[in-house]
Amino acid sequence: MQVLDTLGRPVRDLRISVTDRCNFRCVYCMPKEVFGREYEFLPRGELLSFEEIARVAHVAASIGVTKVRVTGGEPLARRDLERLIAMLAELPVDLTLTTNGALLAAKARVLAESGLQRVTVSLDALDDATFRALNDVDFPVTRVLEGIDAARDAGLPVKVNCVVKRGVNEQEIVPLARFFRERGDTLRFIEYMDVGSTNGWRTDDVVAAKEIVALLDREFGVEPVEQAYRGEVARRYRYRDGGEVGVIASVTQPFCGDCTRLRLSADGRLYTCLFATRGDDVRGALRSGATDDELRDLLTGLWRARGDRYSELRTAESASDPKVEMSYIGG
Ligand code: GTP
Ligand code: 5AD
Ligand code: SF4
Ligand code: SF4
Repeated sequence: MQVLDTLGRPVRDLRISVTDRCNFRCVYCMPKEVFGREYEFLPRGELLSFEEIARVAHVAASIGVTKVRVTGGEPLARRDLERLIAMLAELPVDLTLTTNGALLAAKARVLAESGLQRVTVSLDALDDATFRALNDVDFPVTRVLEGIDAARDAGLPVKVNCVVKRGVNEQEIVPLARFFRERGDTLRFIEYMDVGSTNGWRTDDVVAAKEIVALLDREFGVEPVEQAYRGEVARRYRYRDGGEVGVIASVTQPFCGDCTRLRLSADGRLYTCLFATRGDDVRGALRSGATDDELRDLLTGLWRARGDRYSELRTAESASDPKVEMSYIGG
């Protein structure tokens, strides 16, 4: 079954946030001034159970979803996550996880054994002082690198995502590229986005993909590679002497035209755009005994009405509109 939105885009990916909590306080995502001790995270009872999440994923797969990504907050902060992974692994989908890597060394093997197919680790610096300043909880970079190694040892292909913020970690671009090129892990640099309403985003903070590519070209020599599939978020480049690197130009070259992503928040709301201001409740339906057909109607109705293309329409004004936080809706 294929369901198209008002712009003719099918639904292909489901991103599931399993918690809005995180053990990091990245300055561009959960600044401490806002996400401090008094911040009210979702209470336990508000969260969907693994069974409820798996039901939504099952219905999503029946309307065309072929890629499921588990995210957060920090998904590994949710206890027994491997149980959810095992449930999702029964679906005919590409199953992956986005994590900050802090708990990966301990969890990689059990996740792989439960059916996880690959993993994406966020890592914004190799230099320990820069990394600690960015995560703002003094977490050492070596532990994340150990997590990446553990994932690879467990047979999970690894992608590394680095958000670049001007004046904060541009100097890390070349060292990160060199490090992961030598190790053969896929690295992607991401333009810093105006998600949420708390990170104080300004246009000047964005280091454009073009600038990143120019830097890589000067250092290593790179040339563009054809898209692997329609809707691929990253633009890929080949190093002159082997290996690849990607850039995600979500601000300067938006990819809404091919956006096939549906997001499920930890408390059971569905969002058709990362920059949405409101989501549609599916938890109520789940908890009042809706059948699979009823859930399918809910998802299709929502997708058919969708016309989102925030990044293509972004203006300086819309950047300061109230929006849900990335830690809530899931990266
Ligand atoms: P792969 O299948 O592993 O290639 O996944 P992906 O390319 O979708 O990458 P991933 O989920 O790792 O996303 C990388 C980054 O791209 C995210 O962390 C966001 O910063 C950005 N991104 C992902 N999805 C969206 C989206 O729907 N809209 C916008 N504007 N940015 C997005
Ligand atoms: N802009 C771009 N990417 C972001 N991420 C978190 N906040 C932002 C932002 N403001 C990334 C994380 C991680 C993924 C979940 O989203 O670094 O790779
Ligand atoms: Fe950092 Fe990801 Fe946690 Fe946000 S959710 S604070 S980006 S580790
Ligand atoms: Fe998709 Fe919205 Fe991101 Fe555009 S801004 S790519 S519509 S999630």
